[in-house]
Amino acid sequence: MGRLQDKVAVITGAADGIGLYIARGMAAEGARVVMGDIAADKGRSEAEAIVAGGGTALFRPCDVSSHSDVEALIAAAVAEYGRIDILVNNAAIAIGGMPIHDMTYDQWDKLIAVNLSSVFYGCKAALPHMIDQGGGSIVNMASAQGHVGLDGWTAYAGAKGAIMSMTRQMAVEFGKQGIRVNSISPGTIATPMNDQVVAELGSHLTDTWVKMHPIGRIGRPEEVAEAAIYLASDMAGFTTGIDLKVDGGLTAAPRFVPEFYTPQDS
Ligand SMILES: NC(=O)c1ccc[n+]([C@@H]2O[C@H](COP(=O)([O-])OP(=O)(O)OC[C@H]3O[C@@H](n4cnc5c(N)ncnc54)[C@H](O)[C@@H]3O)[C@@H](O)[C@H]2O)c1
Repeated sequence: MGRLQDKVAVITGAADGIGLYIARGMAAEGARVVMGDIAADKGRSEAEAIVAGGGTALFRPCDVSSHSDVEALIAAAVAEYGRIDILVNNAAIAIGGMPIHDMTYDQWDKLIAVNLSSVFYGCKAALPHMIDQGGGSIVNMASAQGHVGLDGWTAYAGAKGAIMSMTRQMAVEFGKQGIRVNSISPGTIATPMNDQVVAELGSHLTDTWVKMHPIGRIGRPEEVAEAAIYLASDMAGFTTGIDLKVDGGLTAAPRFVPEFYTPQDS
């Protein structure tokens, strides 16, 4: 018996990065996963790989900035499997590395549509089913960036802060209907998103990111997936309205942790 045996899980941005590891991890725990992404070829082949490995998965092309796409993704889960137990609002893009006054209106609109409106679209489509079923679990992907400041990322951080606030509101509002709503705030994780940031802003960032995390490395996508599996599962049955930081201590520390002493071997 997996930790998510027979649950139906919809995951956005599931063709790559953290979302892909969530899809693989949830399928390995017995969930029937419905994967949405704009990267249709990659998404399809990743879903096929899960099925080839003995899991249950299907892929649907989905641009999360389109409410009709998101509605269709949730509808596909219900049509195929009859219910939706888990929604992971994961898809997002990184537009930043510039002062907020240099961001264009188009960049702002795109970021808010993909990173924030998508969460509304997903919840709006999934909640009626979860209410009818008498329960469900929503996991929203926030970010350490929603907790601490970093030059050049005001819009991205604004969307992530709003996601955490929406998470708390929905946890309060839908708790009596058996629906839990939580978020995860990853630190820097090794994914294509950060490969793109390095390509655009410079390879010096790789060292900087390591220094920002007291644990001395950046994170792995499977470490975030593990948190999503926990929050989605019945093991987290009394956990709602929280933001679970999976950030290697980044938000516990000042920006760089100075080495005041060399720890002695005990
Ligand atoms: N990687 C990190 O360091 C990090 C840190 C904190 C938070 N996060 C958050 O984790 C989540 C996943 O990030 P990641 O690093 O895996 O990103 P990624 O770019 O590596 O992967 C994102 C996936 O989302 C898809 N996607 C992009 N735009 C989409 C759209 N409009 N509709 C549907 N799918 C779309 C991409 O095709 C890709 O498969 C995001 O919410 C991100 O903000 C990531």
